[in-house]
Amino acid sequence: MAEEFHRIRRLPPYVFAEVNQAKAKARAAAEDIVDLGMGNPDSPTPPHIVAKLIEAVQDPRTHRYSASKGIPGLRKALANYYERRFNVSLNPETEVVATLGSKEGLANLAAAITSPGDTILVPNPSYPIHQFGFIIAGASVRSVPHTPDEDMLRALERAVVHSVPKPTALIVNYPSNPTGLMADLDFYREIVAFAKKHEIYVLSDLAYAELYYGDRIPPSILEVPGAKDVAVEFTSMSKTYNMAGWRMGFAAGNPKLISALTRVKSYLDYGAFTPIQVAATAALNGPQDCIEDMRKLYRERRDVLVKGLKQAGWDVPVPDAGMFVWAPIPERFKHLGSVGFSKLLLEKSKVAVAPGIGFGEHGDTHVRIAMVENTQRIRQALRGIRSFLQGDNAAPIDADLEH
Ligand SMILES: Cc1ncc(COP(=O)(O)O)c(C=O)c1O
Repeated sequence: MAEEFHRIRRLPPYVFAEVNQAKAKARAAAEDIVDLGMGNPDSPTPPHIVAKLIEAVQDPRTHRYSASKGIPGLRKALANYYERRFNVSLNPETEVVATLGSKEGLANLAAAITSPGDTILVPNPSYPIHQFGFIIAGASVRSVPHTPDEDMLRALERAVVHSVPKPTALIVNYPSNPTGLMADLDFYREIVAFAKKHEIYVLSDLAYAELYYGDRIPPSILEVPGAKDVAVEFTSMSKTYNMAGWRMGFAAGNPKLISALTRVKSYLDYGAFTPIQVAATAALNGPQDCIEDMRKLYRERRDVLVKGLKQAGWDVPVPDAGMFVWAPIPERFKHLGSVGFSKLLLEKSKVAVAPGIGFGEHGDTHVRIAMVENTQRIRQALRGIRSFLQGDNAAPIDADLEH
């Protein structure tokens, strides 16, 4: 027998495992760890969506196999969302497919369009499935900078010249996990022009479409005229409606890519449980004030977190979107790398964060702090971080951090 399967050999051990183990050990020793590691929303799904699920599940017809590509009403609801939010028209029959969360859609589209040895362009750092979906499918990945600006566009042009074979696809993800950076429509225009010029498909991950906190509102790449010739975009119910465990997302855009994903999925799954699809339809078509409430909640957490870190002597950029603070490791701990620093932070301040290297080698200078605990717990985390970073020199705890 071969020692290791070919595909498994291409998957490095899960980088977060080391910090997770340390976290489990601390918790087993009855330590109170504030977990800001995983981007797992802590708020409940809005009640009207849960009520719709309960209503639908009472009908025995919903207990059968569902529709792999999504029930028609759900695909129509997604098309309506694109129309009202982005002014983008989608044909729900040919340009939309429902997925079991956007992660499943990204991975299966990668499988559908990749031949072994293909080259794919992926920003670094980025959410792991962006590169590993393609690596599992047998592709090679060429990293490009993650900042949505001229540097990235120049790096993309260079990558095309120097990659053999020529890249077949590019991933973009704004608002970004882990960096929180946003792209504007001008940047997407450049990306679409680049993709058309070089005949490269673009996969845009818009999982954080509705998590924004300032005046800038995340656009869709599909707003660019002609984008559908080359681009497909993934959206998700996970963060927008606090439905992470429900596993509901979408791919929309280029009909050839949608058809390829739909075909692969037709062999693999029967779609999400029908009551989940019915409830997701109700979420998209129903009242949207729950989204504004969620934005308010995250904005408040973000402000407490960023201000508290600053008071602890740790200056971090303020994210305008997403659910993470992407924090540069303080100078005197840089030599530890992101895993070493995360473990030290856990030990000394009882706060778990995600080491940046889990998002790619260029992430190793940072840790990602998720805003997934309430402000009281965030303040508790901040007190721990402050006494760790300032030690005996810690200034008296600011009144703000006291409650
Ligand atoms: C950028 C990004 N894309 C996709 C996902 C996966 O979301 P879903 O729950 O829809 O699979 C996440 C989850 O954290 C994410 O951060």
